[in-house]
Amino acid sequence: MTADLSQPMISRKSAGLHGTIRVPGDKSMSHRALMFGAVSIGETRVEGLLEAEDVVNTARAMTALGASAQKDAGGAWRVQGVGVGGLQSPDHPLEFGNSGTGVRLALGLMATTPIVAKCVGDASLSKRPMGRVIAPLSQFGARFDAAEGGRLPLVLHGVKNAVPVTYTLPVASAQVKSAILLAGLNAPGRTTVIESVPTRDHTERMLKAFGAHIDIEEKDGARHISVTGQHELKAQEIIIPGDPSSAAFPMVAALITPDSNITIENVMLNPTRTGLIETLLEMGGNIEILNRREAGGEDVGDIHVYSSRLRGVRVPAKRAPSMIDEYPILAVAAAFADGTTRMEGLEELRVKESDRLAAVQAGLSVNGVLTSSGPDWLEVTGGGAPGGGKVITHMDHRIAMSFLIMGMASRIYTSIDDARFIATSFPDFTGLMNRMGARIGVPNSS
Ligand code: S3P
Repeated sequence: MTADLSQPMISRKSAGLHGTIRVPGDKSMSHRALMFGAVSIGETRVEGLLEAEDVVNTARAMTALGASAQKDAGGAWRVQGVGVGGLQSPDHPLEFGNSGTGVRLALGLMATTPIVAKCVGDASLSKRPMGRVIAPLSQFGARFDAAEGGRLPLVLHGVKNAVPVTYTLPVASAQVKSAILLAGLNAPGRTTVIESVPTRDHTERMLKAFGAHIDIEEKDGARHISVTGQHELKAQEIIIPGDPSSAAFPMVAALITPDSNITIENVMLNPTRTGLIETLLEMGGNIEILNRREAGGEDVGDIHVYSSRLRGVRVPAKRAPSMIDEYPILAVAAAFADGTTRMEGLEELRVKESDRLAAVQAGLSVNGVLTSSGPDWLEVTGGGAPGGGKVITHMDHRIAMSFLIMGMASRIYTSIDDARFIATSFPDFTGLMNRMGARIGVPNSS
């Protein structure tokens, strides 16, 4: 019998939140800075890297592939690159833990270099579809031995003489787009990804900064993103602002907890990531963006949030890519709004760290909130949450954090079965929330 190592957690009704905080660095940018640094010439210096399990696994993978990634005495990370095409076969399996971004982008990065690499992940990642990257990466000539259904563990056989690819994305996925563009870095000629729904564009922006030959054209309402391969990338200084997907938790906490007034400084506000803010503003959220500026090639600002009376809205499907990781916490906000909130275009939520549509609905129901759903939509009836339920988190950090936030404003408390996976993206979540006034702790503590 294996020991149960899960860490249950409880979040009790709290008084107003106050304070000025910063959230950890953006996860998407952190993975990319390490990976692009690994295939550049020279030393890339990264400030503000997210030091959470998902990203640390990427740093270890890059080191196993021959490019060292380490933290220096001043707290910045330094990546010694091996150049485009310079990665070497690792002598042990690459462990990607819980991270779909880590493994899918790394598969792209490795696919057009003649190396063999076994990729593994935890139980959650091992259930997630890899076919969506295996299909386009096979067109470059790479081969994959995957577990049944195109899942991890899998062995990648990178191709020596790749052919460039033109690929129309069948799903709105920045991970798939990025995997193809990264494979294109070492394929001769032009690789093109066509996306009809815009997804986060950190890969395009950051590759450009590294000197990649990238161009983007709008044609017939779609973005055609092309990279011309086999050009060297040049090491960069990268500054990573706070992750808007992490800022989402204190933001909603302040909105739904009466008498709150907080500022979250230095949050990345790339327009492909701000769907939640747009939605919360439509719901009547009292949110101000202060001190808008540009830092490290991205829009950045400070977010001032006051507790607010929210109203239910319809969130259109076309907004989904710009807030894809924020639906669990939006559903919590919706539980405290007046009226019903309907979210559409949620099919991708089914294949995240958990089936988030099902996990959110179950978590709301067990806490007395009425919901209904279909294959790709969710409706939440507002009016407040009685609470008192225990939420099953399914190894999903965002489910865990969302329902701990819910406890702060529900009538009594909410609890979760396991808080360990919060460390994949936001290691100090509990400490940060408690310093502002939350009451999150282990059960049977006050
Ligand atoms: C990410 C893209 C999104 C998102 C994930 C991070 C990225 O996934 O859910 O957390 O960094 O490219 P998809 O692009 O697969 O939707």
